[in-house]
Amino acid sequence: MGQYNRLLRTEYTAGKEYGDLWETVNAGKYWRGEFHSKHKNGSLYWESTLVSPITDKDGTITHFLVVMEDITERRQLESHLRRSQKMEVVGELAGGIAHDFNNLLGIIIGNLDLMKRKISEDSKIQNNLEKAQSAALRGSSLTRRLLNFSQQSPEASSPVNINKIIVSLEDLVSRSLTGKITHETSLAGDLWMVELNTGDFEDMLINLSLNARDAMPDGGRLIIETRNTVIDHITTMGDEEMEPGDYVEIAISDTGSGIPKNLATKIFDPFFTTKDKDKGTGLGLAMVYSFVQRSKGHISVQSEEGIGTTFRIYLPRSLTMAQRMEELAKPDISLPRGTETILIVDDEEELTIIAKTILEELGYKTICVYGADQALQILEDNPGVDLLFSDVIMAGSLNGFELARAATGIRPGLKILLTSGFTGQMQNSKADEQWEKTLITKPYRDVELAKRIRDTLDNGDGNE
Ligand SMILES: Nc1ncnc2c1ncn2[C@@H]1O[C@H](COP(=O)(O)OP(=O)(O)OP(=O)(O)O)[C@@H](O)[C@H]1O
Ligand SMILES: [Mg+2]
Repeated sequence: MGQYNRLLRTEYTAGKEYGDLWETVNAGKYWRGEFHSKHKNGSLYWESTLVSPITDKDGTITHFLVVMEDITERRQLESHLRRSQKMEVVGELAGGIAHDFNNLLGIIIGNLDLMKRKISEDSKIQNNLEKAQSAALRGSSLTRRLLNFSQQSPEASSPVNINKIIVSLEDLVSRSLTGKITHETSLAGDLWMVELNTGDFEDMLINLSLNARDAMPDGGRLIIETRNTVIDHITTMGDEEMEPGDYVEIAISDTGSGIPKNLATKIFDPFFTTKDKDKGTGLGLAMVYSFVQRSKGHISVQSEEGIGTTFRIYLPRSLTMAQRMEELAKPDISLPRGTETILIVDDEEELTIIAKTILEELGYKTICVYGADQALQILEDNPGVDLLFSDVIMAGSLNGFELARAATGIRPGLKILLTSGFTGQMQNSKADEQWEKTLITKPYRDVELAKRIRDTLDNGDGNE
């Protein structure tokens, strides 16, 4: 018995548990439990143990039957599962808050837009308005990221110059580093456009910078570089996943600890971390990897222990981008106008006022209602409505997609434009692909609304 006692005891399991074990077994019953133990090589493992007494004819215990099973892997899986369930709950919570918050920001941004256009260019107040607006826009990109996180589905991407994003994040990146780390950037002029979701790209940059920081506890250099690069068949040799073509390359280098060779294949795995439990979740690189995949790009890592690490991300060049940027850069003054009648539906009254004000200034006639039922009533009574502009998520019986369907039932050929703070969110519920594709994201700017309304009136057909 003493022998077993030694055999089973490890410093990682409380003594009380062993007391329990022997008490149970000596009473003639079997005992089942889990121990945390150490292998000879020093690694820890979990073991499920069953101890059952074996007795002779007289009922005296002569032997013990001990069955042990290594359950380390099972316990790890369980803890991963718990973690991802926790993320899911956090996600739902964040999504709920972000949705309301997004509407409030919509009201703020919309009103600032209207104020800006009312106040003369040279007014000193312009400057204040611009600052307020840029803060509100930042808030809206933050809520969008929260919404994105809660949905775990990629938000729409658009063509961007990543140099601009890197510059705009410089401050944040610098502040997240320690004083002993210098931060250098080397950005190529004339960088090609790439198509991606800005928020995701920012997350990637921050994740990689934080990893670099953690790898340089004693200080060092963080270098961010961009350049255009043409990948041909020769360069992709040995890497079947990478298509030859034009790419924008972004390299993030540090002069830190480096990554041991045997870990190189593991670092992108979700939950793989070498950091303390409360320091790292091991999700950083997993998120980076999935973003790069979504953007049809490619990521590689070079690392030398004791020297440093370079992550290189290749993002495919976006060709249609140039024309689209030209479009967006056109001055606001030439917003497209119209005289048609627009039915505006939103359960947030302030938001209908913003849309109404923008559209009336552009020459449109508007009717505002605050719910789907009212909207359908107006469509029955009023043959003059040319376009239905509706929120997707509304209190009441019908959501925007359902309203759109009912509306085209009443008025075939009615033009429809929907708006929502959630993009992609409706995918698993009652989305209607036809309108989801053309959704305008809240909060929207006057330029966007003017363009999208005109576009829908001229090209969109609600009756396809
Ligand atoms: N620049 C780097 N230098 C050295 N090791 C790195 C570097 N980047 C990542 N690693 C290694 O890869 C592991 C996984 O990185 P990842 O970003 O996925 O998770 P984490 O940083 O540990 O946790 P989290 O990002 O969730 O806070 C890290 O724990 C570290 O061991
Ligand atoms: Mg990390």
